[in-house]
Amino acid sequence: MAGDAAATLTGTSDGWLRCADGSHTRHAAEFGQAYHSLSGAREEAERRFVAGCRLRWLLAAGPVSVLDVGFGLGWNAAAALRVGQGQPLQLVSFERDPEILAWAGRFPHPEEYKEACRRVRQLAAQPEVEHSWPDGGSARLLLGDARESVARLPELAEQAAVFLDAFSPNTNPELWQAGFLTRLAERLPRRTLLATYSAATAVRLALLQAGFRLGRGPRVGSKASGSLATLDPQLPLPGFAPRQARKLRRWYTERIGQGLPPDAVAE
Ligand SMILES: C[S@@+](CC[C@H](N)C(=O)[O-])C[C@H]1O[C@@H](n2cnc3c(N)ncnc32)[C@H](O)[C@@H]1O
Repeated sequence: MAGDAAATLTGTSDGWLRCADGSHTRHAAEFGQAYHSLSGAREEAERRFVAGCRLRWLLAAGPVSVLDVGFGLGWNAAAALRVGQGQPLQLVSFERDPEILAWAGRFPHPEEYKEACRRVRQLAAQPEVEHSWPDGGSARLLLGDARESVARLPELAEQAAVFLDAFSPNTNPELWQAGFLTRLAERLPRRTLLATYSAATAVRLALLQAGFRLGRGPRVGSKASGSLATLDPQLPLPGFAPRQARKLRRWYTERIGQGLPPDAVAE
């Protein structure tokens, strides 16, 4: 997500920006930031979201629903569909901006993304329609504000991965707040893993408030570690340093006015 200034960008005549890993993103004028970290749109989709949510591991155990919060250019959706080819993966994407759909799946991409990008374009061309493919995959794009679209979620599998990828919390706050996250959590199966690039304390506290257990995300590109979260009391998460975990628990008590279950913050 949201662009940092760490990488040198090369623009193309049709508005694509080349990230440091060679993949492409665009600039969102309304938010004053790029759709991805400038160190790499592909890197972020594959490492932050697909690997962060352990998507291959979940798929090895059975069907998985991927909730793609902030479809944008469709990089995260394409990375999930690519890993899910030939597998029982159900993608549900949320997007508010109908104009960005014209660019979705149209970024320059390598051969191995050809089929996934074709599916992303299909999804963008016909939002609200259930698309299904002979290899067992299916996808649907819910067009509108995700806070409302969450009420229209189809039935989900017993395992889910959530890619929480709105623009930065200060410019696009509504998808980072406990209200939306709680509504989403109510619809998710217990065996859910959520990944996001944000390491903001307010976002971490909102995830805890929505009932997630919280862990530290991987470092990807120029970004510090993001956050990982799960609704499953049994799933291990990468832990925080003890001092940081203590701080998060203390802040939760001070700001939210309640205590946390002992294992809510992984150490
Ligand atoms: C950082 S971009 C996502 C990039 C995308 N994941 C990708 O891989 O190309 C954030 C996206 O969230 C969408 N968005 C922002 N607020 C939203 C809302 N309330 N409901 C649904 N989508 C929203 C924006 O229009 C934008 O496309």
